[in-house]
Amino acid sequence: RTNQTRFPENFLWGGAIAANQAEGAYLEGGKGLTTVDLLPIGKDRFSLMLGNVDSLELKDGVYYPSHEAIDFYHRFKEDIALFAEMGFKCLRLSIAWARIFPNGDDSAPNEEGLQFYDQVFDELLKYNIEPVVTTCHFDVPINLVEKYGSWKNRKMIEFYENYTKTIFERYKEKVKYWMTFNEINMLLHAPFIGAGIVIKDDEEKKQVLYQAAHHQLVASALAVKACHEIIPNGQIGCMLAAGATYPYTCHPNDIWEAIDKDRESYFFIDVQSRGEYPGYAKRYFKENNLQIRMEKDDEEILKNHTVDYIGFSYYASRCASTDPEVLSQLAEGNIFASIKNPYLNESEWGWQIDPQGLRVTCNQLHDRYQKPLFIVENGLGANDVLSDEGSINDDYRIEYLKSHFIEMAEAIEDGVDILGYTSWGPIDLVSAGTGEMKKRYGYIYVDKDNEGNGTLKRIKKKSFYWYQDIIQSNGENL
Ligand code: BG6
Repeated sequence: RTNQTRFPENFLWGGAIAANQAEGAYLEGGKGLTTVDLLPIGKDRFSLMLGNVDSLELKDGVYYPSHEAIDFYHRFKEDIALFAEMGFKCLRLSIAWARIFPNGDDSAPNEEGLQFYDQVFDELLKYNIEPVVTTCHFDVPINLVEKYGSWKNRKMIEFYENYTKTIFERYKEKVKYWMTFNEINMLLHAPFIGAGIVIKDDEEKKQVLYQAAHHQLVASALAVKACHEIIPNGQIGCMLAAGATYPYTCHPNDIWEAIDKDRESYFFIDVQSRGEYPGYAKRYFKENNLQIRMEKDDEEILKNHTVDYIGFSYYASRCASTDPEVLSQLAEGNIFASIKNPYLNESEWGWQIDPQGLRVTCNQLHDRYQKPLFIVENGLGANDVLSDEGSINDDYRIEYLKSHFIEMAEAIEDGVDILGYTSWGPIDLVSAGTGEMKKRYGYIYVDKDNEGNGTLKRIKKKSFYWYQDIIQSNGENL
C-alpha cells in the first residue's frame, strides 16, 4: 500500500445478492412469475435480455436457472450464519416485487411474502448485519409486462409507489439503507432484463426507452419521498452500473466520445441526485426528435426528492474511440460492450480487470455529486475448481479483491466519502448475464452446476478466511 489510509470506523463491509439470482422458490409462498424467471441459460438468454421476446410463457423442456437458483429461500439461515462468520457488517439483498405483489397490480400485498423478508431481516439483525435493500433488482412481475408494457406505461409509477410504500411501512424498524432500481442505466442496453421492456417492430426504440426512463426516474423520486416520510433515519440511494470511460487516444474526438459515453449513464444519476434533466439530455432529446411526456408535477418531484447516496457497481472501466478500426475490437462486458483496453488483463469471461479504474470512478462520482458513495457490487467471476481434498484455493479472487481494496483505500485518501463495500455474490449464485452457475463470485462455494445438478452444499473457499481477516482488521491487513 502506498499510504496508511484507515477505513472509516463504521465502514460497511459485506456482500451483495439479488432475489432472482439467489432465492429460487420461484412460485412458492404466493410469489408471481417475473421477467427473470423467463430467462434460460445459454445462447437464447442474451437475445431475450435485450428485449427480443416473442412469448411471456415458460417453455417445456427448457432449464430456467432462477427457478431454484441456490435455494436461499429455504437456506437463508445457514447462509446468513456464514456471512456472520465472515464478520459482515451489512448484506445487500433485494426484495422480489412479485413476492409482495404477485401480479404487481394487486390491491393487497401477499402476507406470506412479507413474512419471508421479516424472517430474513430478523436473522440478519440477530448478527448485527445491516440489511441494504434494493427494491427492484431486474425482476418485474410478468403481469405488469403483459398488461401494461412495464415501464413504458405511466401506470407503473403508481404500482411501484404502492409497492415501495408497503415495504417501507413494513420494514421501517428493520431496514435503514435502501436503493431504488438496480443498475438503472441497464434499461438503455438490455431493456427486458433492465426494466421488463419489449420493443415492438413499429415502436421507435429511443423514444420508448427514454419515456420509460422518465417513468422510472419519477417513480424513484417518489420512493425517496416515501422513504424519508416513513423512515426518518432511513437513507435511500440510486444504483448505477458504473465504470469510467477512458478515451482510447488523446485525439479530441476520442476525448469527447468518452465524455459522451459516460453521460449515457450519468444522465440517470444526474436526475436522481441533482434533481433535474441535464442540458446535454435536453439537447439529445431535441436532436433526436424525442418527445418525453411529463406531467405538470414531475419536475418538482424530481427536484425535491433526490437520493441520499450514490450506490454503484464497478466491474471494469470502459474505453471509447471514434476510429472504426479500433471500434472493431470489442471486449466482452456485462452488456456494456466496450473497446478492449490494451493495458488491461481480462477474466475468463473476457471482462477487463482494472483496479485503478475503481479509484478513477470513485473520484469522478464524488466530484460530480458530492454525496456519499456506496460500492454495492464488484468482484471476479471465475470457474473455481474443487481440489481432491474438497477445498477451493481461489488465490486469483483474493488477488483481484485485494487490488481493488487498495484502490478503494486510495480513493478514501483522496477525500472520497465511501459508506461501504459489498462484493458481488459472496456466495456463488446464478449469473445474470449468462445464467451459469459456473461463473462464480463467492467466498462460499455452492455445489451446483450449469445444468442444475448438485447437492447445493455450501463450502468455504480460501477467500472466505481472507475476507474475514480484512473485515476483522477493518482493512488494516490488506
Ligand atoms: C450486475 C448485476 O450487472 O452484474 C448483477 O447487478 C450481476 O445482477 C452482476 O450478477 C455480475 O454479472 P454476471 O453476468 O457475471 O452475473
